[in-house]
Order: sequence, then structure tokens, then C-alpha cells
Amino acid sequence: MTRAARADLGVITIDGPAASGKSSVARGVAHALGVPFVSSGLLYRAATLLVARAGIDPGDEAAVMAALAGHAVALEPGTTANRVRLDGEDVSDALHTAAVDAGVSQVAAHPSVRAWVGEQLRRVPPPFAIDGRDMGSTVFPDARHKFYLTASLEERARRRAGERDTDLAAVAAAMARRDALDARQLAPAPDAHHIDTDALDLDQVIERVLEKLPAGAASVP
Ligand code: C5P
Repeated sequence: MTRAARADLGVITIDGPAASGKSSVARGVAHALGVPFVSSGLLYRAATLLVARAGIDPGDEAAVMAALAGHAVALEPGTTANRVRLDGEDVSDALHTAAVDAGVSQVAAHPSVRAWVGEQLRRVPPPFAIDGRDMGSTVFPDARHKFYLTASLEERARRRAGERDTDLAAVAAAMARRDALDARQLAPAPDAHHIDTDALDLDQVIERVLEKLPAGAASVP
């Protein structure tokens, strides 16, 4: 694809619940198109890590916002991985722990935290593919290409149990809790293409997304 055609893609939003495959799909789509991908959940995870380290009550919205104002949280999008720096320290590897999983929905529920994340994300220059919960519905309502991935709780728990060192029932229970807490953010954009990923492998989902993009988009390096 030419540079101009790539730029024309704008923002490609890939939303869905936990472990629906959205991060891997966003990364794969971005790779196929030769554009960066952005994982919006990392900013919520970094805010949660900051709050835990500072010993702040995650339910205290003003205290959480004061911590965010007092520290530098930087998301660095890339074509193969995203890195997150907290006051210059690369904390990327500390963001996918069961402790962050358990606290993140509470931090992400604060409207001012959501506004802060939206602000950071809207500073990233397009084109890029971005995964999240409300990228198509709220943060980038004018995005030209929106996707919403779904999968059963069972299938998502199976996928996540493979990534974390915990048993399936515990993962499914934690995920159901997080779905309930995230429910408000989980409403799909009305103009999103829905893809049920239960019976599809990663490459097939990426293919479905690429099929919906302008002709030629899928034939990139
Ligand atoms: O996508 P990921 O699992 O990394 O997201 C972690 C958490 O961040 C979610 O459970 C949700 O609470 C929050 N989140 C959100 N909106 C987004 C992305 C993530 O509320 N767009």
C-alpha cells in the first residue's frame, strides 16, 4: 500500500471484552498494514500500577487524578509492541499481572481517568490500529473502520488461563467480574463490524478485519 493510502486508513478501532483477542488482532492488522498499533488498556493498567505503588485508594478519584498529574505516564506505540514508561522507567512488563487485572476496572471507572486516557490517545498521530473497550464508541467516534470482537466467557477464560498462571475456574470468575465492572464501556459503537471469534483462530480474525478495509490494504508486506 502506498504511504498516502496508508494515511487514508485513519484510525482503525478494535474493541471487545477481556481476552476477546483484540490486542493480538490489532497488532496483526497493524503489522499487515504497516502501521503502528496502540493498546489503550495499557494506560489504565499504568494508572493502576501507579496508584498501587503510591498506596492510594483506587476508589478515590481525586487522589488518582492527583497522582496522574504528578507523574509522567507515557505510552509509546510501535509496530510490534507498545511500551509504557512511568517517570521514565519502563514498566511494560509489570502491567499484566493478576494484581493489576484485579484493580484496573475500579480505576478505569472514574470519568476523569477516562478523559485523561482519551486525551493521551488522541495525541497519537494516525494512521494506527487501536484496541480497547470504547475506542469506536467514545474516543474515536469518527474513525472510519470500527470492529467489535466477541467470544464466549468460556473461550475467553481458556485463552487467558493460557497466559496467566492460574486455573480456569478462577480466571473465568475474575473475568466475569471484570466484564460486569466494565459493562458501561463495553457497549459497541453502532457502526462497528461485529466478529464472533469463538470458532476462529487469530489469523482468521485478522483476515476478517482486513477484508473490510479498502481494497489493497491486505496485500501489504
Ligand atoms: O484491554 P485490557 O485488558 O488491557 O484492559 C484492562 C482494563 O482497562 C479493562 O478491564 C478495563 O477496565 C480498562 N479499559 C477500559 N477502556 C479501554 C481499555 C481498557 O476501561 N478502552
